[in-house]
Amino acid sequence: MIRSSILTKMNPYNILLLFSIIQWSACSGETICSYLDLALNLTYKNIRGTLVRPVKNWRNSTIVYIDLSLYTVVNLDTSLQSLTTYIWFLMEWKNEFLNWDPGEFCGIDTIIIPGEDLWVPDLYIYEMTESDDKSPVIPYFIISSDGIITESKPLRIVSTCNLDIFKFPFDKQTCYLTFGPYVHSVQDIIMLPKFNSSQVNSNSQEIFVSKGDWVLLDISVSSMTIWSEGVEYSQVIFELIIKRAPVVYIINLIIPSCFLVLLDVVSMFIQMGTGERLGFKITVVLGFSVLLLILNDMLPNSDNPAVLGIFCCVCLAVMVISTVGSIATSYMLMLSETHPNVPAWIQVWVMRRLARVLCFKIKPSYEDTVAIKGEVNASFLGDTEDRKLREKTPELQEKKHPQKGKDSLEVKLLKRLLVEILQIHQELILSKDMQDAKSDWYTAAQIVDRLVLIIYLIIVVIMFAVVISVWVT
Ligand SMILES: *[C@@H]1O[C@H](CO)[C@@H](O)[C@H](O)[C@H]1NC(C)=O
Ligand SMILES: *[C@@H]1O[C@H](CO)[C@@H](O)[C@H](O)[C@H]1NC(C)=O
Ligand SMILES: *[C@@H]1O[C@H](CO)[C@@H](O)[C@H](O)[C@H]1NC(C)=O
Repeated sequence: MIRSSILTKMNPYNILLLFSIIQWSACSGETICSYLDLALNLTYKNIRGTLVRPVKNWRNSTIVYIDLSLYTVVNLDTSLQSLTTYIWFLMEWKNEFLNWDPGEFCGIDTIIIPGEDLWVPDLYIYEMTESDDKSPVIPYFIISSDGIITESKPLRIVSTCNLDIFKFPFDKQTCYLTFGPYVHSVQDIIMLPKFNSSQVNSNSQEIFVSKGDWVLLDISVSSMTIWSEGVEYSQVIFELIIKRAPVVYIINLIIPSCFLVLLDVVSMFIQMGTGERLGFKITVVLGFSVLLLILNDMLPNSDNPAVLGIFCCVCLAVMVISTVGSIATSYMLMLSETHPNVPAWIQVWVMRRLARVLCFKIKPSYEDTVAIKGEVNASFLGDTEDRKLREKTPELQEKKHPQKGKDSLEVKLLKRLLVEILQIHQELILSKDMQDAKSDWYTAAQIVDRLVLIIYLIIVVIMFAVVISVWVT
């Protein structure tokens, strides 16, 4: 009867068993100590239990215990939002037909056999996005004498993970691995974790190998049931919390960008209006945009962008604004050559109000000349007598005022001299006005430059404060 039932399944495994039968019958009577004999007896017992769930009463569900230890995080692809992990997986369930008395078999209480004839739960990982054809195939199962079957194997899992990269590169990611049967409902299979969270975590911490990029913070496990299309399924959920090791990003990204911002701030102290400053600034902006390209490669396309990305964007904007400010000041200096007079609105808005707001000390040239001009007008030009003297025809004056023709030669000479001196004075005031206008342009440019510098510093300091406070919390 044994032979006939085995001969119906002529696969290599059963041919092996056939041999063992011959061996067994040959040396019957001796104590049975070989695995082969036990395997034969199990095959006979289980022959009808390989296709269907191995319970004696169909109403009883099979309890499947699950455990995993995280070995390493192979990759966390931020742009695809996928997590590739390598885990050590363990699954345990009971086959109610596969049990034996170890006393009958020379004390053998566990046997390791290939599992092609065994019923295996249809386990499925809900988050899995790729089939795990890169996992090594370990075909063996451990069966103990009370019918408990243990499947233990390494698994490479590619799963989806919702990434939150707001704090990049100081981010923590929480990913889930949900194990459950795909077909069997909770009446058939109940999934339970083999160990509690603290044990799972300490097991994983023991074996976890960091590949430099990610550090394992915590693993916890829970079981629950979900309803899907009217059927209730049992699940075991592992929650992995991993933290990015930020050193690489600090060295390659954050420190260089801080240096570039610093350089750009310092470049505001290069002499105003020179091409040197502009060239320097453009070079810094170029360098910064290269960093932005690198950052772009590292960051995923996500709805809420990383605070580092916003920071870099604002820094670039401020750099551009300060470059435009530098161009504006050099344009103002250029205008001072062609249009010496500063427009009134610049005088009012820039040189008075803005200067007062920025506590900018204007050189006395502008306000004082106005005062001096007033004095000069009052003392010399206000007097009618002096105004006449200023005219270039003193001979005519003499005719009009014959009584003054009596003046001596010295007095005439002195009056002549006075006229000349007054003319020179006028000339001087005129050219001083020109220079003042030029230096007014210069002052206005200085004020604009100061304004840009102050805005720049304020924005950069605020951004630094915001970014650091986000990272710290
Ligand atoms: C093999 O299994 C059968 C059925 O359970 C049992 O009667 C028999 O004793 C077993 N064989 C040995 C050698 O123990
Ligand atoms: C099935 O489960 C019931 C309890 O729900 C238990 O009393 C019974 O022994 C189980 N049957 C088998 C064959 O294990
Ligand atoms: C987890 O299991 C271990 C050993 O069984 C036990 O000592 C520990 O208290 C359990 N922890 C929790 C949180 O249940």
